[in-house]
Amino acid sequence: MNHAHQVYRSRREALLASMRARSGGGVALVPTAAEVARNRDSTFPYRHDSYFYYLTGFPEPEAVIALVADPEGDRHVLFCREKNEEREIWDGFRYGPDAAREIFGFDEAYPISELGETLPKIASDRPALFTPLGLFEPWDRRVTDLLNEVRARARTGVSAPEEIVDVRGVLDTMRLVKDEHELALMRRAGAISGAAHLRAMRATHPGMYEYQVEAELMHEFLREGAQAVAYSSIVASGPNACVLHYRENNRQMNDGDLLLIDAGCEYQGYASDITRTYPVNGRFTGAQKDVYEIVLAAQLACIDVVKPGVAFHDYHKVAERVLAQGFIDLGLIAGPLDEALEKGTYKQFYMHRAGHWLGMDVHDAGLYQVKGESMRLVPGMVLTVEPGAYIRAADNVPERFWNIGVRIEDDVVVTQDGCENLTPIAPKTVADIEAVVGR
Ligand code: GLY
Ligand code: MN
Ligand code: MN
Repeated sequence: MNHAHQVYRSRREALLASMRARSGGGVALVPTAAEVARNRDSTFPYRHDSYFYYLTGFPEPEAVIALVADPEGDRHVLFCREKNEEREIWDGFRYGPDAAREIFGFDEAYPISELGETLPKIASDRPALFTPLGLFEPWDRRVTDLLNEVRARARTGVSAPEEIVDVRGVLDTMRLVKDEHELALMRRAGAISGAAHLRAMRATHPGMYEYQVEAELMHEFLREGAQAVAYSSIVASGPNACVLHYRENNRQMNDGDLLLIDAGCEYQGYASDITRTYPVNGRFTGAQKDVYEIVLAAQLACIDVVKPGVAFHDYHKVAERVLAQGFIDLGLIAGPLDEALEKGTYKQFYMHRAGHWLGMDVHDAGLYQVKGESMRLVPGMVLTVEPGAYIRAADNVPERFWNIGVRIEDDVVVTQDGCENLTPIAPKTVADIEAVVGR
């Protein structure tokens, strides 16, 4: 087992320990994701399941792990595809059980084709079964069949697990606080994505199409070794910036437009999530600058409050306050501030939350609230900070603000006394942006 894979084994050990603490032992079965057909005989680029990968680092499809908290000791078991020279000539390398066991630090490994006959033995006489429930339908059926099969063997003296637990509960809690291995990967993901935004800014000029800017982002992601985008890139110019999940990316950009780009790469299984907004011609108009400075002030104020002990919802409240006051100052909504907050008039221009957990998934695992109480931040949690303002044409809005959409998004990790910005490379002050766009 190489050093990196010790990290994954330690996570499996932590899961096994919590299974013992909760249920006196049991077995955890965690499958990876299936390949997904795109059209005819083409598949989408393969993406492993995040829970499975968190526990294994194993990148191939058609794999399942069984972790057994046995009275005689823990067993880490992997099922994966067999070596197959013919298939490897066509589709590429596969580890096979023997190499996978060695490299990925398992005690036992078997061909995935033996799963059906082996699982009933592994799952017999265990107090509890921990597995994802409702994540993959074929897997749900497999789990039901497995339990029925073990029950059918009752006359041979074995019993089926009485307690069935969604393993994602424990894993979500673990995934919420990132370890050093994860933070190193997330820093790299953030650096690549930041450089991609910088590259996009430099390349942008009036007359270009949104997809041509998207190509600049992709160029940087791939040349720096990112495997994929963490989510579909939003490259939204002019009025498209006010469509929160715009993804056509096919408009020609005009002189005077703002361009909002929300894009981040996935690097070795970890997401980054950055938004920058800038003028296509490199110079903010007065109205664009007015709105931009308010969103930037809100974003900096939010980053300022991120530290251990603060409730997740508190930084959202900071965003609402700063934005609402800004909208009042611009004459977009009526004051005073407390009344605007109470009535929610600012929601015409700011209608989403200030951020979310970030990790293997862009909207990452982890609760935001427990028993009605907002989660409190602790070191190692990673979250996005992304206030915005979206001003559509409307009767109650002065025309100079129409179609201005601004969002500024960075990724931060909570530290002992504050937070560290994982995405500092992409410029975000007016002066820094004007110095690079189109140059
Ligand atoms: N890019 C998705 C989000 O910002 O939440
Ligand atoms: Mn985003
Ligand atoms: Mn986000």
